[in-house]
Amino acid sequence: MNEERYRVRPGGRLRGRVRVPGDKSISHRSIMLGALAEGCSRVHGFLEGEDSLNTLRAFRAMGVDIGDPRDGEVEIQGVGLRGLRAAPGPLDLGNSGTSMRLLAGLLAGQPFDSVLIGDASLSRRPMGRVIEPLTQMGARIDSEDGRPPLRIHGGRRLHGINYRLPIASAQVKSCLLLAGLYAEGETWVEEPAPTRDHTERMLRAFGYPVLGEGRRVGVAGGGRLTATELTVPADISSAAFFLVGASIAPGSEIVLESVGVNPTRTGVLDILRAMGADIEWLDRRDFGAEPVADLRVRAAPLRGIEIPEEWVPLAIDEFPVLFVAAALAEGETVLRGAAELRVKETDRIQVMADGLRTLGVEAEPTADGVRIQGMGPGGAFAGGRVDSHGDHRVAMAFAMAALRARAPIEIEHCANVRTSFPGFAQLAARTGLDIAVSPA
Ligand code: S3P
Repeated sequence: MNEERYRVRPGGRLRGRVRVPGDKSISHRSIMLGALAEGCSRVHGFLEGEDSLNTLRAFRAMGVDIGDPRDGEVEIQGVGLRGLRAAPGPLDLGNSGTSMRLLAGLLAGQPFDSVLIGDASLSRRPMGRVIEPLTQMGARIDSEDGRPPLRIHGGRRLHGINYRLPIASAQVKSCLLLAGLYAEGETWVEEPAPTRDHTERMLRAFGYPVLGEGRRVGVAGGGRLTATELTVPADISSAAFFLVGASIAPGSEIVLESVGVNPTRTGVLDILRAMGADIEWLDRRDFGAEPVADLRVRAAPLRGIEIPEEWVPLAIDEFPVLFVAAALAEGETVLRGAAELRVKETDRIQVMADGLRTLGVEAEPTADGVRIQGMGPGGAFAGGRVDSHGDHRVAMAFAMAALRARAPIEIEHCANVRTSFPGFAQLAARTGLDIAVSPA
C-alpha cells in the first residue's frame, strides 16, 4: 500500500458548512440489498471509500451489474435473492470487517462456495462470533482458528434459529438476518443492548418484512426484496471528528449538513453534550427510513465524565476522537464496558492510550476501557509523532488534536483514512485545520 503521513501544525479553528461523506454502514447495506433485490436500485450519497467499494467489487465479482459510483450516485441491477453467481476467485474485503461479517451470512445460504479474505488487520479480527451462530443454522464455514480467510461451503440448507447475542454487535445481528433470508422458518436475534438498526430499516425499505422490534428482531426466509431508491445520510462517525475539533478549538463554529441521527448512532452526541459541548440540531428531517439533521457546533469548555455503559454501543466507532476531547476536558473521564474497542481495526484502547501519552496526556488503559486525566481549559497537547497503526479513525482523531497543541503533531500510517473518509485532509484543511499529507 502507498503509505501516507499527516503533519498537522498546531492551533487554528474550524469554520464553515460542510457535508462529510456518506454513512459507511448504510452504504455497505445499500449495495448488498440492492444486489439481492428485483429491479434496478438507485443510491444517492453513497460513500466512495475503500470499505464500501470493496463490498461493491465483491458483488460485481458475483455477477451483479453495478455502475461506477459518480458523486455518490450508484445504480445496481438487482439479481434477486437467488441470482448471485460464484465469484471467479476469493473476495478481497481489504480492511472492512462489516463487509466480511455481513457477507458471511449472506453467502452461507448460496448454492456455491466462497472464500473471503482481507488485509493484515482484518485477518486478525475475530470471526467466531459469526461462524458459531451460522453453524447452528446449518452453515459450514472453515477459518484459521476463528480468523480469516473464511471458506464458506455452498449448497447447505439453512434453518432459522433463536439467537441471543453474547456481545452487542450490529455486524453479527445483520449477518444472521441476511442468512435468515435464505433459511427455512424464522431467524430471531436478541441483542444485550441496542445496536445500529440500519439493516432492519433498509430491509423494510426494500419491502422485506422484519419481525419484532428493538432488541429482538427476526425475518422469515423465502421472501423477496423489491428495488428502491435511497439517499445515504452523511456519516455521523465522520462528522464526529469535526464535532470534537470545533468543540476543542476556541473560536470555532461549524455546521455539518445532513448528518444521520438514527438514535442507534447518536451516542457521540449524548457523550459530548454530557461533557458540555455546544451542539444544536437544525432542520431535523428524514432521508427515507433514516433521520438526518444539520448539526451546528461551537467551541465550548468540556468536563470529564463517567461514560454510561449503555451508551457504548451507540458511540462504538467514535471513541478515538472522544478520547481526544476527554484529554482536553476538566477532570477525569472514565470509560468501561468497551472491550470491543480492542478488536476493531486496531486495539483502539491501547493505540489511543499510547498516542495520548506521547502527546503528554495521562491515559491509563484498563481491560475494558480507559481512564483519561483531562488537561482542562488551559491545557494543550505536546507535539510529537504518533502512530495510527493503519487505523483510519485513530489517524483522524490525532489530526484534530493538533487544533489544541503546542507543537506540530505527525501521524504515521494514515493511508487507510480512505477506507471511510476519502478527502478528509482536504475537507479538514478547507475548514481551518493546517494539515499536510506526504508519502511515507
Ligand atoms: C458496524 C457495526 C459496528 C461498527 C462498525 C460498523 C455495522 O461493529 O463498529 O464500524 O455497519 O454494522 P460491531 O457490530 O462489531 O460492533
